[in-house]
Amino acid sequence: MNYVPVRISTLKSHLPLKFNVYVKLPSKYLLYVKNGDEIEKDRIQNLKKKKVRKLFITESDEQNYQEFLDECLSQTMTDENVSMEEKTQVVIGVSETAAQDVYEDPQSAKAYKAAKRASDGLVKVMNQNDGVLKAILKRTEQESEDLIERIQAHAVNTSSLCVAFGEFIGLDSSSQERLALASLYHDIGFLKVSPEAQEFFFQDIGQKHISELGDYGEHPFLGAQMLQDKEFATPEILDLIKTHEERVNGTGFPKKLQKLPLEQEVHALCCYYDRRVTCLKQQDESVINDLMINEIGNFNLETLTKFKKFLKTNVL
Ligand SMILES: [Fe+2]
Ligand SMILES: [Fe+2]
Repeated sequence: MNYVPVRISTLKSHLPLKFNVYVKLPSKYLLYVKNGDEIEKDRIQNLKKKKVRKLFITESDEQNYQEFLDECLSQTMTDENVSMEEKTQVVIGVSETAAQDVYEDPQSAKAYKAAKRASDGLVKVMNQNDGVLKAILKRTEQESEDLIERIQAHAVNTSSLCVAFGEFIGLDSSSQERLALASLYHDIGFLKVSPEAQEFFFQDIGQKHISELGDYGEHPFLGAQMLQDKEFATPEILDLIKTHEERVNGTGFPKKLQKLPLEQEVHALCCYYDRRVTCLKQQDESVINDLMINEIGNFNLETLTKFKKFLKTNVL
């Protein structure tokens, strides 16, 4: 039998499971929760204490797991008896799973389904409560040294920031959903660049000229290229991926564009901010304070001013 990992955070629900869940021991997989049972809160706490983050299901149950996630999300979001905290936890689990699927196989329909589910969930839950963004950005699960896990955390954080900031400045929900979706994919070019260029995702490239960065400078284009013949990748999504490192004054890359439509500017700004916090591990407060010093000109003043106000009230 083949086993596939699932995040524990996606199993926290009062819905009975539709599949067996296993825990991995050094020599074998042990049945942990039976199909039809619910996973109890204290058992989850126990696993957390032991720093176990993943459980396993059999490969043949993948479809059942996907259906469970859909059901879980739609039921949880509309149930008034479910606390906001629980809703947030479900959305975090669903978003992390999506980021993981996207980085495992960006071109697959499975990853797209997961990303769509996460984007819809994020828009729903964030529009209901202001505290959600902070809970997502401060979650402890993202403190990984593994580079792929860090870039996945960056995808989830950027996606959440885009939705919340989009809402803050009055973008409509279809725009928020596009932003959420594109953000989950924005750095998949990471998978196509050289190992040296992969290091630059986690380094302050500050004063370096783009010509010193090897194919890092191509990652937005390479990412979009991976998706361009996929039905789910609309021209708007591809453009958001291609322009996520652009600025409004020609200092971005790869095209050195001179202006960006607002939706793309919001995306580029959220990508920029969260890169510094999640990928470069800089303090959120100092990044926020720095925005009006170093980024003036790179983004429109009005957008920057609103972003700073938004971050001060919703993130700090
Ligand atoms: Fe990027
Ligand atoms: Fe990024």
